[in-house]
Amino acid sequence: MSERNISHGVILVLGATSLLGIGVILYGLNSGPAQEEVAAIPAAATAAYGQQLLRETTRLLGPEQPDPAMRYSGNGLDCASCHLDSGTSPGTLSLLQSASRYPRFSGRDGGEGDLRDRINGCMQRSMNGKPLPRDSVEMIAMESYILGLGQQYNIMSDEKTRAFEPPAFVEPQRKASIDAGKVVYEAKCQVCHGADGLGLKQTADLLDGYLFPPLWGPESYNNGAGMTRVLTAARFIKARMPLGMPDLTDDQAYDVSAYINSQPRPIKAALEVDFPELWRKPVDSPYLPYADPFPQEQHQFGPFQPIRDYYEQLNAE
Ligand code: HEC
Ligand code: HEC
Repeated sequence: MSERNISHGVILVLGATSLLGIGVILYGLNSGPAQEEVAAIPAAATAAYGQQLLRETTRLLGPEQPDPAMRYSGNGLDCASCHLDSGTSPGTLSLLQSASRYPRFSGRDGGEGDLRDRINGCMQRSMNGKPLPRDSVEMIAMESYILGLGQQYNIMSDEKTRAFEPPAFVEPQRKASIDAGKVVYEAKCQVCHGADGLGLKQTADLLDGYLFPPLWGPESYNNGAGMTRVLTAARFIKARMPLGMPDLTDDQAYDVSAYINSQPRPIKAALEVDFPELWRKPVDSPYLPYADPFPQEQHQFGPFQPIRDYYEQLNAE
């Protein structure tokens, strides 16, 4: 494709997303949410800007962003490092249906949260950063974008909503092996993510973000992120990695997830306040405390079924 064609494509996409933005605002007016909310939508908070924030998070909100007041995210990842094609790709970690899922109850936060709370969940964990003010232009732009995706999804043909992914990950009934995971990593992952797991930057400047994002180390997700759960990581990796040609077996996805998540990464403060009702904590949540007698290592690497069985028996009593 010539450079000319590429820039045409970009202009078309930007054109389409700003139309989407207008659509979202008009929809807001018609469907009648609180009037003050509609009036409060700043003109700059377009869905197109929201998409840009998901795709270029490091550049716009990262640690090297020239304006210190705009440094919200704390690592070298973009939202789109995990939510592929800025969430538009159907399948694992797609954001196409997120609009319809919120507000909802969060066991981690111990209460109901809306889409803005959920975005801030990823900001503080996956992005190792601090929460965006709920009424900031950036927060509203990202929310508008995700709401727009939901509307797009509703009118997409079945063909377009189909995910082209291998069969969903099925959890092996054993402890994951870090050693076996290292072998998988070296064969299937390090060509892009690097032998040291630190990824490959676009340029020497962190501001430009990563071509291949880091899987561990200071610029990766912190130890409170969803991706540190072995089962969450294995589901994503089996469905999506190696990028463009996902072909791991369940065992390989399970072991390589354990390997990645046994490596050092940023530490989130005060994780012990998560899950005020501890019995709601997912079995593969890797950090203390727990409401059961199983060792932390088993919550990190499995086997997980005995932990589920324990809680089921408690419930039955
Ligand atoms: C390291 C990977 C990673 C990064 C980077 C990341 N997320 Fe997430 N995100 C996740 C995971 C894992 C989940 C939880 C999915 C689940 O509950 O099954 C999630 C969930 C979400 C959800 C809820 C989706 C739904 O349908 O319930 C939203 C919205 C979201 N992320 C937005 C963002 C935004 C915005 C950013 C950037 C500021 C971001 N994420 C960065 C991994 C990531
Ligand atoms: C061909 C290059 C390539 C290979 C090989 C590859 N990845 Fe990725 N991976 C990427 C890219 C690029 C992204 C970011 C998504 C994007 O930009 O579209 C990514 C994102 C990720 C993420 C989420 C973001 C982060 O930094 O945590 C994880 C986890 C991941 N890869 C794990 C793996 C694992 C495990 C393997 C081996 C089984 C693997 N990848 C193989 C290119 C690759």
